[in-house]
Amino acid sequence: MPIIEVHNVSKDFADDKNKIKALDNVNFNIDEHEFVCIVGPSGCGKSTLLRLLAGLDFPTSGMIKIKDEEVDGPDPKRAALIFQTFGLLPWRTVSENIELGLQAVGTIKQTRDQIIEKYVKLMDLEEFSDARPYELSGGMKQRVGIARALAVEPQVLLMDEPFSALDAITADMLRKDVLEVWADPSTKTNTFIMITHLIEEAVFMADKVIVMSKRPGRVLKEVEVTIPRPRVEHARDPAFFELCDEIRNLIG
Ligand SMILES: Nc1ncnc2c1ncn2[C@@H]1O[C@H](COP(=O)(O)OP(=O)(O)OP(=O)(O)O)[C@@H](O)[C@H]1O
Ligand SMILES: [Mg+2]
Repeated sequence: MPIIEVHNVSKDFADDKNKIKALDNVNFNIDEHEFVCIVGPSGCGKSTLLRLLAGLDFPTSGMIKIKDEEVDGPDPKRAALIFQTFGLLPWRTVSENIELGLQAVGTIKQTRDQIIEKYVKLMDLEEFSDARPYELSGGMKQRVGIARALAVEPQVLLMDEPFSALDAITADMLRKDVLEVWADPSTKTNTFIMITHLIEEAVFMADKVIVMSKRPGRVLKEVEVTIPRPRVEHARDPAFFELCDEIRNLIG
């Protein structure tokens, strides 16, 4: 039984004059404990699809189910969404930013403190728990964003180009850390979906890459990545480049 089911999802945006078809009959399933990346040309509806999964917008037709329940609006316990721009509250410390989602779902103070401690540790933020966002590098800010999303222990974590605002070295470290957190049995959330425009990043991170067409976005192919983990040696693995080429040729 898949944890996420996307059935015949189409999405149109309309203003006074024009109708834009953003997504056209998108279908896929995602299993629990899968790491899925979505790639496709700019404007093909990737962010739109993630917003639909998060319940922040609704399909024009079709249906999305998470854990057999139709997504009918945002629910922090169902899906958490993190952005490339971090979205932290500047007047709150790192711990207080992580606490935000827990307060929203009504977790009691003592439990909140335990959960904050756990995710501060998991994302290597111990030294910074009392710092405010302006004191942090971009990489640290994104760690807080991820810790905050995971702290609520949602069924799925949704990430929209989470590393694209970071320098290459920081992004590289964070990729590995996110994979470690995903594989860590103490992390309650174990289904991760990430949008990226970097094909190499997708093949490095994912169990499955969903390749989308140019707008209106359709699923061209679901590419399984069976390269063994950890994939630190991918730079020397011909299978890695074959998959990247396959995806690049699909997108055209
Ligand atoms: N709220 C909206 N109102 C009108 N049009 C929208 C809205 N959101 C998205 N669109 C349009 O839908 C299409 C898909 O946008 P979306 O942001 O999902 O693409 P994307 O694949 O995430 O692109 P990128 O790779 O550049 O981030 C675009 O043509 C965009 O202009
Ligand atoms: Mg986008």
